[in-house]
Formats: sequence, structure tokens, C-alpha cells
Amino acid sequence: MAAPMGHHVAAMPAEEEEKEEAGPGSWEPSGAAPYGNFPHYSRFHPPEPRIGLLPVGLLQSLFPAQGSVPRPLLGLDVGCNSGELSIALYRHLTAPPAAGTGLGPAPDLHLLCCDIDAGLVERARRACPFPGALSFVPLDIMDPTAREPVLASFLARHGRPAFDLGFCMSLTMWVHLHHGDAGLRALLALLASLCRFLLVEPQPWRCYRAAARRLRRLGRRDFDHFRSLGIRGDMAQNVAQILTGELGMELHSCFGTTPWDRSLLLFRAAP
Ligand SMILES: C[S@@+](CC[C@H](N)C(=O)[O-])C[C@H]1O[C@@H](n2cnc3c(N)ncnc32)[C@H](O)[C@@H]1O
Repeated sequence: MAAPMGHHVAAMPAEEEEKEEAGPGSWEPSGAAPYGNFPHYSRFHPPEPRIGLLPVGLLQSLFPAQGSVPRPLLGLDVGCNSGELSIALYRHLTAPPAAGTGLGPAPDLHLLCCDIDAGLVERARRACPFPGALSFVPLDIMDPTAREPVLASFLARHGRPAFDLGFCMSLTMWVHLHHGDAGLRALLALLASLCRFLLVEPQPWRCYRAAARRLRRLGRRDFDHFRSLGIRGDMAQNVAQILTGELGMELHSCFGTTPWDRSLLLFRAAP
């Protein structure tokens, strides 16, 4: 049974992510969420403990104002689920600074949020209190034919060649399990090529084992790539190694770890 929003988070093992039970309206009758498309993900891993790790005034410090009319920033949130984290990120990052902090106003932010599960995207759209600033689209980010027009038209609409900030929150494991080592590398390469800054919350290896166990318990076939993955072990380090060693990004900050023991890592494209 899902924990109520915001309760028992610190005591909850990371494996809970893979244990969510099927309920009315769940993704499919067996309760399987093979892409991490849990219908109530934010009850297990709510936004607040993650948002709380991000410094106040983050956008102002990453993107110091240039010129008298600051241009809006563009963000890409991949694997947005039903939008709770995207909305919380937007609120946090654009909150007016408290008096006395010396921070200027936060820049405008436009977020393109996508998820492979169209039902979750529809829920996100309906619940979003900032429809002018957040766009939710159904999209498999690993499908080049589908993603190119979506990304290109968003960027063209804003007259920009790339995103200022990307969010890849609790997504890496699902892409890795479905697309293998090459898929994980391709996802990170795509995001590194699209985003000046990239915030990543990789799932640790024990979540992979729990996800595979869960599938077996449901009588499903194993993830195509689970047994053959060569990238394993310390996943935060592996992801950082790929982004910095192979893809030329720099580690900008480690904002700490969530109560469910996932690192929040910010990378930036090399100047
Ligand atoms: C575990 S949830 C994380 C949700 C949210 N990012 C968070 O951290 O609260 C992972 C999400 O990634 C989505 N996802 C998995 N593979 C994807 C893909 N190839 N393209 C887009 N979304 C994907 C799933 O549907 C799911 O909603």
C-alpha cells in the first residue's frame, strides 16, 4: 500500500520504488510499471526532500543576468511521470527571493516535460497550475524519430538552440534496463548535447536488483538487458564518469543525497 504523501519517507527503503502495488486506475492490471511509470510515484518519493537539497537562488547563480531584459530560461524534464516533481521544481526555482538575500528576481522558466506514458502525461497536464510555463508531452526520449520534432519545435518556438537546464530524475535505471549500456550512454549523450546544465538523480544498483525481482514476482520476463549490463556497481559514479569522462561535461555540484539514498548531481557543459 502506498504511503500517504510526505509520510514515512526517511524510513522507506529505496526498493519501495519497485514495490508499488496495483490499484484502481494503475498502469495495467498486473500492477507492473515496466518503465518506472508508477501511477503514484510521488507518494513514495515526493518532491520535497529533493527540492530541499537545491540551493535557494540556484537559477540566479547558474545564469547571472545579462542585459536589462533577461531572457527566459528553458528546461527539459525527461521522465516527468504525473508532473509532481516538475511542478515543484518550477515553483522552487522561480520563487521570489526572500528580502535580505541579495538575490535578484528569478528568471522566467519554461519547462518541456515528457514521459513515455501518455496517461501520466495527461494527468500532469490536467493538474498543472502553470500551463503557460510547463508543457507536458508524451514522448519516448529514446525514440529519435519521435523526439526530434518535439524538441526542435519547442526550441524553435523560443528561438533557442538548446536547453539551459535538463532534469533526469530517477530515469537512468529504466533506460538502462530497457536499452542496455549503449542506451544509457545514448541517453546521457543526448542530454549532454542538449543542455548547458544537467541535474541527475541516478538510481543505485540495488534498485536494479529490486526492479528485476519485482518483475519475476509478477511472473514477467526479465528486463532484456539486466543480466548483461556491464555498467554496474556505483551508479552515481558511473553516470558521473560517463558525463565527465566521455561526454566532456564537468561536475558542478553534488547537492547531497535524498532520504532514500540517491545522489543529486549537477553537471555543466564545458565552456
Ligand atoms: C521513477 S519515475 C520518476 C518520475 C520523476 N522524474 C521523479 O523523479 O519524481 C520514472 C519515469 O520515467 C518515465 N520513463 C521511462 N522510460 C522513459 C523513456 N524512454 N522516455 C520518457 N520517459 C520515460 C516513466 O514512465 C516514469 O514516469
